Amino acid sequence: MAHQPDLLVRARRLIEGASRITALTGAGVSAESGIPTFRGAGGLWRNFRAEDLATPQAFARDPRLVWEWYHWRRGLCAAAQPNAGHLALARLEAARPHFTLVTQNVDGLHARAGSRCVLELHGSLWRTKCSRCVAEWPDSATEGLPVCAACGGAGRPGVVWFGESLDDAVLAASAHAARDCDVLLVVGTSSVVYPAAMLARGRVPGRTVIVINPEPTPANETADLYLQGPSGEVLPALIP
Ligand code: OAD
Repeated sequence: MAHQPDLLVRARRLIEGASRITALTGAGVSAESGIPTFRGAGGLWRNFRAEDLATPQAFARDPRLVWEWYHWRRGLCAAAQPNAGHLALARLEAARPHFTLVTQNVDGLHARAGSRCVLELHGSLWRTKCSRCVAEWPDSATEGLPVCAACGGAGRPGVVWFGESLDDAVLAASAHAARDCDVLLVVGTSSVVYPAAMLARGRVPGRTVIVINPEPTPANETADLYLQGPSGEVLPALIP
């Protein structure tokens, strides 16, 4: 980060002067906690086929295989600790009255870092929902096949799979927060998965977009500022 002290100062001033701040995070924010991202070197989608593990069809075909993968991921995330990036965002929320955190992550690390209000666009690893009715319940088991207590249907991970829609209310609240803010921090996301990616794209009058990522992403095309580096280093430098 030695090459960008001026950018960091500019970004700090923007945050200090902002009344409404929103952060949109992706898998990169948890990378320094040891949780693999999806794309890029070591990414989950480099080693696993999404169509075998993260679609309703995969679950209908082989629920045991799908659960094995999600149980493995629960174990990984349970053993991980929030990093300095998660903690910095929790500090920002505590310090500012109009701060919204929107995440694509299902790992629960923002909450464990102390963030109280997190819009989880892609659901949560720590919830199970019924594949037949509307029931949903907290679940941290790492083995077994859960069954719905309400209707006896098969329990499935409480995450959004490929081909599924996001929760309308969560998406609407996230879109509002991402649009109606003075500063939007876009942290650790490849910005290629829609609709989440659209929250950071385009120009909105009065909104400054700051991208934090070791690699440039499509969101950089319309961003106002790019802080290149790992979020576990950049966020604490930005949010003392
Ligand atoms: P990706 O794996 O697509 O992108 C991770 C991003 O994090 C990349 O842009 C990396 O450059 C960046 N990155 C890596 N290390 C970092 C670090 N230390 N600090 C900051 N950034 C770092 O993950 P997402 O954008 O979150 O969806 O992926 C979006 C969605 O695609 C996920 O929520 C998941 C996946 O399929 C579902 O499962 C529905």
